Amino acid sequence: MKRIGIIGAGIMGSGIAYLAALQGFEVVQYDTLEGAVTRSHAKALQRMDQAVDAGKMTAQERDLVYRRLTEAHDWNAFKDVDAIIEAVVEVLDVKIAIFQKLDAVVPAGVLLATNTSSLSITAIAQATRRPQDVLGLHFFNPAPVMKLIEIVRGEETSDVTVEKAQALAEELGKETIVVQKDTPGFVVNRVLMPLFIEAMRMLEEGVATAEDIDKGVRLGLNHPMGPLTLADFTGLDVDLHVMDYMYDEFHDDRFAAPLVLRRLVRAGHTGKKSGRGFYRYPSNK
Ligand code: NAI
Repeated sequence: MKRIGIIGAGIMGSGIAYLAALQGFEVVQYDTLEGAVTRSHAKALQRMDQAVDAGKMTAQERDLVYRRLTEAHDWNAFKDVDAIIEAVVEVLDVKIAIFQKLDAVVPAGVLLATNTSSLSITAIAQATRRPQDVLGLHFFNPAPVMKLIEIVRGEETSDVTVEKAQALAEELGKETIVVQKDTPGFVVNRVLMPLFIEAMRMLEEGVATAEDIDKGVRLGLNHPMGPLTLADFTGLDVDLHVMDYMYDEFHDDRFAAPLVLRRLVRAGHTGKKSGRGFYRYPSNK
């Protein structure tokens, strides 16, 4: 594979585009928001400038990688790509409309991947006349750094498509797991959300302080980061959204969002690296 089309230039689209360019792919990127792709490429350049200053990259390498990042101004730009990765907002109707457009312009047999973190791969694939070519490629944030990609099969995804995705992930320098069943939360969030929820419930019950719950998990289970800090990093609003979605789908209390989380989000504490959301909780004092 040589050329990748990326739809979306937000947090994930930007990270994936930068990663792909670093790994030698030509990247053509599209976003409906005016200036989003330009900002995404400028951010990549800024990161590379820092790498050059730190002696981790030469100025020639930086220029080469930067030239691989281009903007798509219409759908015809995706006529000659080897793979597509869609990373737009987490709204099913928006993704379906995009896959319908891709189905009309992208040659048959090209890998069509969505970076959705919760939506049904099968429902997205059915927007095309080639659901066998569609799967989930679930990157983690920040995409250039995190080692894992979850490859998620839709009901009709072919083995050949999974093999293409594995080859692409390898070229991107990532490890993969294959999620054989298209289920909410895939593997990682299915494990993570109950961990978050239990840590938050213990905080609510006054079992231990936020610091001690995190320290217990870090040192007792050898996690690099405690669950309350990690929940803050992923964004408390995002966590709540994922829990509510999984609870609606499974009707299982394992995924019921704790009140403390709902209240913090309602009060505007969305986390995102503040590291303070839960550390300010009253029982902590
Ligand atoms: P974001 O909100 O940062 O970016 C979304 C981008 O999509 C925006 O730039 C927006 O202008 C663009 N967009 C909206 N409609 C569009 C359309 N019709 N055509 C082209 N572009 C359009 O969102 P983020 O965080 O990058 O998430 C993107 C996807 O990745 C979502 O499906 C999300 O669930 C998934 N994801 C997010 C992770 C995260 O930690 N943020 C981790 C893994 C997956």
